[in-house]
Amino acid sequence: MRILVTGGAGFIGSNVVERVLRDGHEAVVVDNLSTGRRVNLFGDARWYEMDIRDPQLDGVFERERPDIVSHHAAQLDVRVSVRDPLFDADVNILGSLRLLDLCARHGVRKVIFASTGGAVYGEGYIPASEQDMPMPISPYGAAKLSVEHYLHCYYAVHGLAYVALRYANVYGPRQNAHGEAGVVAIFTRKLLAGEPVTINGDGEQTRDYVYVGDVVEANRRAMSLDVVGTFNIGTGVETSVNVLFERLGDIIGGGVQATHGPEKAGEQRRSVLDATRARQALGWVPSVELGRGLEQTVDFFRSTGDSA
Ligand SMILES: NC(=O)c1ccc[n+]([C@@H]2O[C@H](COP(=O)([O-])OP(=O)(O)OC[C@H]3O[C@@H](n4cnc5c(N)ncnc54)[C@H](O)[C@@H]3O)[C@@H](O)[C@H]2O)c1
Repeated sequence: MRILVTGGAGFIGSNVVERVLRDGHEAVVVDNLSTGRRVNLFGDARWYEMDIRDPQLDGVFERERPDIVSHHAAQLDVRVSVRDPLFDADVNILGSLRLLDLCARHGVRKVIFASTGGAVYGEGYIPASEQDMPMPISPYGAAKLSVEHYLHCYYAVHGLAYVALRYANVYGPRQNAHGEAGVVAIFTRKLLAGEPVTINGDGEQTRDYVYVGDVVEANRRAMSLDVVGTFNIGTGVETSVNVLFERLGDIIGGGVQATHGPEKAGEQRRSVLDATRARQALGWVPSVELGRGLEQTVDFFRSTGDSA
C-alpha cells in the first residue's frame, strides 16, 4: 500500500511513517515543517515540504496516487486557537477539508484522522466515551470535531472510508513540547539538564497518557481493518501532573524539586478516555504501561541529546 502521511515530520506522524515502512508499505510525507523536524524524516519515504493548504497538493496526489491518507498535520496549540481561531480554523478545518476533497477526487480508499479526546469532549465526562456528547471548550477542539463531521459527510456522499482516532495525551520518543502531552517532553528535558521545574497550579490536574507505540498500533489497525468510525485511543488511567513528575524524577534521578506556579487559565481539571469501542472494533488495547513508556522516552532523549 502507499500511504500519504500529512505531518509526517512531526512526533506522532513520524512514528507512523517509521512503522508503515517497517511493515513494507510505501510512505509519502507532506509537512510544512512548522513544528516538525527534518531529523524525523526517513530516507525511504518520499517527502514534500508543503502546506496542506497549498493548491500544489493536487499535483502530489496526481503523482503519488496514495491508497490511504493518514492526516496528522495540524495547528495543535490550544492557546493559539483561542488567540487566533481564524488561523486555527484555516489550517485545521479548511486545510483538512481541502485534503478530503483531494482524497475523494483521487480515489483514496481511506482517511485516518488524528483527532483529540482531551479537547473534543470538554469538561465533565470521566471517563469520556464516544456516546458522550462532545462539548469542546476551545476552537482547536471545535475544529477537530467539525472535521470528524466532514469525514462522515464524505463517507456518506463519496464513499470515502475513514477512521477518526481521538487520542488522549500522547507521549514518547520524538515528542516535542507543543503537543497535548508536551509536559512529558518539558519535564524530561529539564530533569535531564538538572534545571528547575515549575508545575502549573497544585499539580493535581489529571490526564490520560498513552504511549506513541500504542497509538501507532491503533493507526495500523485503522488502516488495515474494514472499519469506519470514531474511536477513543487512551488508557483509561488518570495520572496527575505531580505523579508524572515523581515518576520521571525516579527514572532520571538527580533530586530536582518542583515548585508550583500559578494555575493556567482555562485548563481542564481532569481528562481520561474510555477506549472500549476501540477494543471491540479494532482489537486495540494499550500495551505499554506508563512507567515503561516513560523509561523509553527518557532513553530516547538521553541517547539523542534531543532538546525536545
Ligand atoms: N500529541 C498529542 O498528545 C496529541 C493528542 C491528540 C491529538 N493530536 C493530534 O495528532 C496530530 C499530530 O500531533 P503531534 O503531537 O505529532 O504534533 P507535531 O507538531 O509533532 O506534528 C504536527 C506536524 O504537522 C506539521 N504541520 C502543521 N501544520 C501544517 C500545515 N498547515 N501543512 C503541513 N504540515 C503541517 C508540523 O510541521 C508537524 O510536523 C495533530 O493533528 C494533533 O492535533 C496530538
